[in-house]
Formats: sequence, structure tokens, C-alpha cells
Amino acid sequence: MPSMAQGNRHQHQRQRPSPSSNSSNPNRNRQTQFSARRQKILQQRKSLPIASVEKRLVDEIRKNDILIIVGETGSGKTTQIPQFLFGAGFCQDGKVIGITQPRRVAAVTVAKRVAEEFGVELGQKVGYSVRFDDATSSSTRIKYMTDGLLLREALLDPHLSKYSVIIVDEAHERTVHTDVLLGLLKNVQLARSNSVSHGQGLNFLNKNVNSAMSSEKENGGQSSSFLKKDHHEKYAPLKLIIMSASLDARTFSEYFGCAKAVHVQGRQFPVDIFYTRHGEPDYLDAAFITIFQIHLEEGPGDILAFLTGQEEIESIEKLIHERLSKSPQESQKLLVVPIFAALPSEQQLRAFAPAPSGCRKVILATNIAETSVTIPGIKYVIDPGFVKARSYDPAKGMESLNVVPTSKSQALQRSGRAGREGPGKCFRLYPEKEFDKLEDSTKPEIKRCNLSNVILQLKALGVDDILGFDFIEKPSRAAIIKSLEQLFLLGALTDECRLSDPVGYQMARLPLDPVYSKSLILASQFNCLEEMLITVAMLSVESIFYAPRDKLEESRTATKSFSSPEGDHITLIKVYRAYNDLLEKRSNEMGKTKSEKALRTWCRENFISSRSLRHACDIHRQIQGHVVQMGLNLASCGDDMLQYRRCLAASFFLNAAVKQPEGTYRALASGQVVQIHPSSVLFHQKAECVIFNELVQTNNKYIRNLTRIDYLWLTELAPQYYAVQN
Ligand code: CDP
Ligand code: MG
Repeated sequence: MPSMAQGNRHQHQRQRPSPSSNSSNPNRNRQTQFSARRQKILQQRKSLPIASVEKRLVDEIRKNDILIIVGETGSGKTTQIPQFLFGAGFCQDGKVIGITQPRRVAAVTVAKRVAEEFGVELGQKVGYSVRFDDATSSSTRIKYMTDGLLLREALLDPHLSKYSVIIVDEAHERTVHTDVLLGLLKNVQLARSNSVSHGQGLNFLNKNVNSAMSSEKENGGQSSSFLKKDHHEKYAPLKLIIMSASLDARTFSEYFGCAKAVHVQGRQFPVDIFYTRHGEPDYLDAAFITIFQIHLEEGPGDILAFLTGQEEIESIEKLIHERLSKSPQESQKLLVVPIFAALPSEQQLRAFAPAPSGCRKVILATNIAETSVTIPGIKYVIDPGFVKARSYDPAKGMESLNVVPTSKSQALQRSGRAGREGPGKCFRLYPEKEFDKLEDSTKPEIKRCNLSNVILQLKALGVDDILGFDFIEKPSRAAIIKSLEQLFLLGALTDECRLSDPVGYQMARLPLDPVYSKSLILASQFNCLEEMLITVAMLSVESIFYAPRDKLEESRTATKSFSSPEGDHITLIKVYRAYNDLLEKRSNEMGKTKSEKALRTWCRENFISSRSLRHACDIHRQIQGHVVQMGLNLASCGDDMLQYRRCLAASFFLNAAVKQPEGTYRALASGQVVQIHPSSVLFHQKAECVIFNELVQTNNKYIRNLTRIDYLWLTELAPQYYAVQN
């Protein structure tokens, strides 16, 4: 692999606002601050390792239709390369440079940063688009988005005709969407270059290429003919760039027919690695102790702690605040900022802002901070060695979200975060011998997830032969077949394994997991779509209730007022409605800002995560938009919760479980023995038969989000499955 020039190795100092900027004229003050910030950004951009190789990179991209760019995290790939390409004329004729990210957080924060670097308003020339949140306009030329979103765009525009360049970023993450996207883009690129007559060459900057893009009409997502129609249309060739942080460029290069790979060097300072002497029984506790150990014993520099999810982050955040509240002096010196996918984007940005002078920042992050986002100022990394990952058992047809050990390459990425701006330290919260036992790298997600979502989308794109699709790494035949079977049982596929009309098409249009899409379609028939919309929105966020360990009883009492003897779904609906009723009442009474504060207090008193609830309201609004557009019947079942529960049974029949004599449950589809999660309102009630939405595996297999149903409803409402089985 040819190597791009060495990045400059000088150390950066974070700049603090200087005391002299406190002038008496606020306007001038603001202007000075603004231009100082611009200066600083310009300087930062220039000092990025990638800045010195701009010309070479642009030349390589011009020369190669597919280029693989490997570079260490923080070298400037994500923020700078699209700007280089814009400057080099790749957006002529209104074309767009699209950059995909596996995570929403990255798409949003990076777009904001690039808009700022560009000096434009977000959503104009630079924008982002992620599920449930779009900040783009017709003038957007650099568009950051999630990989899943680009897949959905392909439903509307199979040739992705508005893009001149598509950059698949963070490809090493190998999310299921990235893997599918790679296969799809390979086809799109081929189709687009075939549509150009050979004499005109493939260089899309060639003005002679007749692009018929402007006449391309959106077809509303109804068409299933993927790249088959429109042979008369001509498309400018598409440039593809695959970017990755890890060194394994070979897999990508081979997949794209020996595509050229270039390496951009980053700066990396030495990082001292520390291990614990013994295994830690409770890594959260260990992380909490280590944060304060660093804070009290180590020199200046911010701390980045990797946790597995929102719940863990929020519980440690609380513990830290509690400890700090006991010594007001200390609280001036430690600033806690969380960052995880479900965090509203303005709060995500707090992680990037420097801490006030004399204060240390501790960032509590999920593995999004591994490579997706680069936060300046980190000198200390705490790595408990765990990550939340999906796993799928095709034999049982069950997907679960488990906390599992990281791979070696993840551990290396994490420790690398400490050495970006100077020598750093990484505290791994496990003994050294455990490191040797870790897997070398993480298995691609496509090999460990339920594929029904992907298959539904591929079918909607007109790819009928899923087993024959050119995946970069093929999922197992068993997993494909099991997922096809599930889609068939949900009524999305016909006997010939084609997308059914209208159900299959409707399901493909909704940006949700197929079972959830189906539940909305069914709810429209059961006259309870209002309730089901709330359910789906509430189930789409990580967790509504939180129960701090030291206040378990208190939190249980608080949540009791919402709990329904029928189960968690109705409980969630009650919470959602109580919140929105209060929101309406309070905003009428006291205006927006004050009412927000009142709602936060209400949430705190009820042990409800106000972040999650706001996120759920947002999702609700968006899905409602979709279902209204689709013409579904937006009715409420009122007090007739029986109807709603029957609808749940008809939707989630694949996740039904019955009580066993000894008190555990047996999941009917998989035969697994499972237990009710202690967080469920049915934990003490022991219903005879339930449906559930989630399987969590720790030491035991737990089912979460349950509703009591009547066993006989299954044969009545899902005869396609239960009549045959029994
Ligand atoms: O993609 P890669 O990891 O190579 O780097 P990048 O995301 O382009 O980030 C380059 C630099 O931009 C980082 O080191 C940060 O200093 C800065 N950055 C920032 O300050 N705020 C952001 N939201 C994103 C990047
Ligand atoms: Mg990046």
C-alpha cells in the first residue's frame, strides 16, 4: 500500500479564551470571538495530517473510480476529504458528495463541524440526513448520512443519480448496512458506467458526458425494478471511496476487483497501557473508581471512559454528580459529558467543547468514540473491555443484544484515543492475560444479526436472489433462510418469495424493523394505530425507566403509578400520555423554557429518562408522518385495551412465551427457557402467556417489554404459524 506523506508531529495545545477578550462592547466582542474561532479552525485544519496530502489524494480520486483510503482516527478523513473534493469541482452541475456513517451521532456531529469549517449554515451547502432527522436542502452539496439512510434513498432513486461521489466511511465497522451498501454500490457503479457510451470515457468531470439526471423522476418508492429500467437514460459515472480506520484494506480491495488502496498517516503518540491485577467483578464500579483515581492523581488532560450503553452511562453520570455534590469545590474541577447514539444532537456536541479553564472533562461514551467521532483533548482512556453487540441464532430465529468482550482491535482503537495530541495512558479494567484471549477482530454484523430487514430492503430494490447477492462476506445460508421464513410469516413475501402487495411494499417503506412495521399495519386494522405508534416509538429508545441501584425501592414505588397489570406496553403508553398531557398543560401555563424545566423535574421524580422520552416523542412524530402518508387508519381503541393486546399478539406472535410449571418461561418459536426481566411490570405477576419484544442475555436469558395475552389468540390470530405448529 503506498503511504501518503508523514503528518506533522507537533503537539497541539487547546486554546482557552483569553481574559482580554472581555471587552465592553458586546457586538465587537462577538465579532472578535467569531473571527478568532475561524482562525483557530483554519489553523486546526491546516495542521491535520491529511492537509499535506490533499493534492495527491484528489489526484488519486480522479484517476481511480474506486479508491480505498485507510487512515488513523483523527487524521482528518471524514471532515476534510469531502471539502477537498468540493474544492476540486466534484459538485459541478449540482451533484452531491455523499458520505455514509454507520452511526447517526457521527453523521450529525461531523456535518455540524464541516458546516462550521466551511462557514455556512448547517442544512445549506453542508447537511446531514439520518433516520427521523433531516437537515438538507436543494443546495446541499456535501451530505453526511447514515449507511441505512442511503440504502433507503436507493429505493427512491436506484441509480443514486444525484451523487457524483459516494464515500463509505468507517467501513471497518462492517455494520450490516455498510456491507449491503457495498454490494449495492458495486452494482450502481457498474450500471452507471455502462449507461455512458464508451467513447466518452469514464471521467465524470468530462463535460461531454450527457447526464440525464435532471429528468430522473422520483417514483415514490413503489417501483421494484432495480437498475433494470431506463436503459435509454445516461448517468455520469459514480466515484466510490471506501474509508476505514483499521489496516485491513485487503478485504475491501479484493472485493472491488483489486481496487487501489492508499494509506494516510496519522499522528500517534505513545500510550502507556495499564491492566488490573485481578479480574474486576463489577466493571462499572471499577470504572467509577478509576475516573476519580485519575482525576485526583494524574496531571491535566481529559478522560474518556468506554461504557456499553445509555443505561450504564447515565448511572455512572449520576454517581459522579452525587459524589461531586458533596464537595462543591471539586465539582468546579470535573465536568461530566455523556455521548451515545440516542442523545439529542445539541447535547452530543457538548462532548466536543473544551472544558472551562482549570476543569477536567470526563466523557462517558459508548463505542461511538472508538473511531466514529474524534474528541479533542483526551489524555486518559478507561476501557472496561466490553461492548454491546447483536447476536443471532438462526436455528432459534432469535436475535439478542448482549454485553460481550471487545476484540483486540477494538481495544487498540480505544487506547489509541489517548495518544492523539500527546503521550497518554490507557487503563484496561482487566488483567493482561485476558487481553491475549480476546478475538483479533470483531465479526461483521451481517454474520450475527437477523437479516429480515436487509432482505426486505433488497427485495424492494428488486434483488430477488438473496442467496446469490454479491455480499462482501456472505451471511450463512441458514440465517438467510430463517429470515426469509420470518418475512413470509409476517406476510411480507408471497409464495414465490416476492414482495407482497401491498403489505410487503408498505413494510419496506417504513424505516423500522419489519415486525414493528407490520404491527403498525395491523394496528390500522385493529383500530389501535394511535396506541401502536406510541408503543413503537417508546420501544425504539433505549430505556425509559431508570433504576439507580441505591434507590431501587424508591424508583419502583414511583413507577407503580403507571404500571398496568396487563404489561409493559400499556405501561409505556401511560407514561407517554402522562408526559404529553403535562407538556401541553405546562406550556399553556408557563411558556416553553419553564415548562421544559417542569417536565425534567417530573421525569426525575418519576425515575424516567427525560432524554429518552423526548427522543421517543420525536420518533413518534416522524413515524406518524409516514403512516399518515401511507393512508393508514389513525384510530385509537380508547379504553378497549383488549383490542390492543390482541393486536400485539397478532404482530409479535413469533415472540410468544408460556409459563412453565417451575415458573420460568418457554419461548414458543425457539424452545428456549427464558425468564422475565426484573424491570418488567409482570416480574411478580407470572402471567400464563406473554409476548415480548426483547431478549437480553446476561447470566440468564431475560425477556423484556412484555404483555399478557391469551394463549388461544395465537392460533386464532397467527394461524399461519401456530395452526401448523400445533
Ligand atoms: O475521520 P478521521 O478520524 O480521520 O478524522 P475527522 O473526523 O475528520 O477529525 C479530524 C479532526 O477534526 C479531529 O481530530 C477533531 O480535532 C476535529 N473535529 C472536531 O473538532 N469536531 C468534530 N465534530 C469533528 C472533528
Ligand atoms: Mg472519520
